[in-house]
Formats: sequence, C-alpha cells, structure tokens
Amino acid sequence: MSGGDKLDFEIRPNPAPVSAADRAALLTNPGFGRIFTDHMVTIRYADAKGWYDARVEARAPIPMDPAAAVLHYAQEIFEGLKAYRTADGGVTLFRPEANAARFVASAQRMAMPALPPQAFVDSLRRIIEIDREWIPTDTDGSLYLRPFMFASEVFLGVRPANEYLYTVIASPVGAYFSGGVKPVTVWVSPDYTRAAPGGTGAAKCGGNYAASLVAQAEAIEHGCDQVVFLDAVERRFVDELGGMNVFFVYDDGTLVTPPLTGTILPGITRESVLTLAAAAGHRVEERPVSFAEWQADAASGRLREVFACGTAAVITPIGEVKFPDGEFLVGGGEPGAVTMALRQRLVDIQRGDAPDPYGWVTRVL
Ligand SMILES: Cc1ncc(COP(=O)(O)O)c(C=O)c1O
Repeated sequence: MSGGDKLDFEIRPNPAPVSAADRAALLTNPGFGRIFTDHMVTIRYADAKGWYDARVEARAPIPMDPAAAVLHYAQEIFEGLKAYRTADGGVTLFRPEANAARFVASAQRMAMPALPPQAFVDSLRRIIEIDREWIPTDTDGSLYLRPFMFASEVFLGVRPANEYLYTVIASPVGAYFSGGVKPVTVWVSPDYTRAAPGGTGAAKCGGNYAASLVAQAEAIEHGCDQVVFLDAVERRFVDELGGMNVFFVYDDGTLVTPPLTGTILPGITRESVLTLAAAAGHRVEERPVSFAEWQADAASGRLREVFACGTAAVITPIGEVKFPDGEFLVGGGEPGAVTMALRQRLVDIQRGDAPDPYGWVTRVL
C-alpha cells in the first residue's frame, strides 16, 4: 500500500462490455439485485503483505479452492449502499464513510483484517467511474453497490484465516418492494431469533442472513413481506426486521426505535432518521419496545405509524402485523403522514433535490 491508506488500482477495462442497446433494455426494469454491471473491484489481503493487488476488471466468476476457509467457517462480511444520479448528471453516494466504518466494525467482530476506510471509499469511486452508464436515471432507480470480503485462505481448521479477498460488485436497481411505496405486512417470528447478546447481530456478516432465511420463508408462507425478530433472551422485545430497522410513531409525535445493544444492525438509515426526525421537531427515543406494547398501542390508537428503514427499501410503512395467534393493522393499514414526510426528506437529501446540512452526500462524479 502506498501513501498511507491509499491504494493504487490497476484498471483493466472489460474487453467485451454489454452493448449500449442491451444495457438500455436491462435498465428499463432492473428489479433488485438481478442484473450487474460490466466490472468488479478486487483487493487481496495476506497477513504477510497487507492489502495488495487492487484492481478494476471485468466482472467474472471468482475461482475458489474447495478448501477456501469461507466455504467452511463462513468468515464473510458485506456492505450495501447506493449511488444516485443527480439532476445535473453527476453521481453521489450517501454517507459512504459510515459504511466504511461499519465494514471495519464487522471485520473486527469476525476476526478479519480492517480495510482502511479510504480504500473502501476509493473502491466505490472506481467502480462507479467505470460503470457510470449503468446508473439508472429514473427517480426510483440507483446503482446498488455491494462491497464484500471473505476468507480465501486454503485451509481447514477453525481459526481466523490469513488471506482474504475484498470485492465490489454493482447492480442497477429499482424499488426494493415491487409496487412502489405501499405498506408492507410483517410476520412476528414465534420460533426463530436472529442474534443473541454477545453474538454477531451488529456485524453485517453473511451468517446472520443465513440464520434469518427460515424465518423469512415462514413470513412469506403467511403472506407477509418481511420477518420481525424478537430478542433472543426473553422473546418479548422487538429487535429488527430481516433486513431493516424499525421505528414506532406515537400520537404525541414521539418516534421510538430499539436501542443498539449489539443484537441489531446499526443501520445508517436508522441513524439518519433519528437525526431528521429530531430536526423536524419530533421527540426521539432509543428504547426497547415489547411486542405486547406494540399490539396494545396499535389497538388503543396511541401508536399511529410503524415503519421499516434501510438502504434497500429506504423508509417503508408497515401496515399490518401477523403472528401465530392473530393479526392487526397499524394506522388502518395506510401509510402515515410522519413516515411519508421523513421518507421524502431523506430521499430529497440523498438525490440532491434538497440542501444537505449534515454533510451526508459525497459527490463522486
Ligand atoms: C439486518 C439489517 N438491519 C438493518 C439494515 C439497515 O441498514 P442500513 O440503513 O445501513 O442500510 C440492514 C441493511 O443493511 C440489515 O441488513
């Protein structure tokens, strides 16, 4: 690595990129996570060398030895953030340093090397520069960036690996939930928990998502869009959704979200919403909310709105809640005014349609 945390990237453009006509066809309805750009970034790590061999090259399968440690012990972490096209044709990222910091925190929890934040943000710039034509221009569209890192050492044995591969791929996306902004239905899992105290819940590691899949499948079987996990100790308090944090909006204008106790992912959208809500004059509280409280307050009408938030779905109203013993609506099943105002405020800042008093938006191109 030269010049402190700065890496020099070798650029090898894809010799056979997708044609402009085919790309335009793919971009008309990209969906979410289905199509990918022409390139990827890779950076290698070895204990003896540090970070080395940073490249931008054609997106291609990654050859892997069957004894690569990740395939056995799941040392893997990832991030997710979006690049947005601005009205003047530029490109921005939303709080990429926050993703870089979370990537470091995830690496530390999984006994992996920390990629310097500057190398993380530079890697994003590199793929955006070379694949800029893949960024959708419509208002719901963006380029979803997926940085990830895994143990590539060829070794069987339970200990931290000494070789890793960091990679960034990019996927043009539309809305996460098909049908635009309409309230989703959630399933409160009675049997499965996501993360226990002292576990890996606050790390963005693949294993957390593997553990959530059976519960998410159960949610779909019950006609729900997402699963809600309760705390692993008492099975009483709301932790988060399979891939989103959750907020409760009360009739006195207070917003409440579960605290960061180590079992939930510290969402960057969550943190942004706390800031925006306080700036809009709401009282905000980070405190445990029990499922019993959620039910009782929805029934009494004290609880007016509930929403989920995360990079993929931005801010999405939760209209209906199902659980083994029944179901109930929140806010009559309609999107709430506070939810939609916060969503608009956040999207306006992210897309450069409103001033950014927080320094959250990074211009990349
Ligand atoms: C489990 C989980 N919780 C919350 C979030 C929201 O985090 P962010 O707002 O940083 O996207 C995500 C998505 O990254 C997630 O996977």
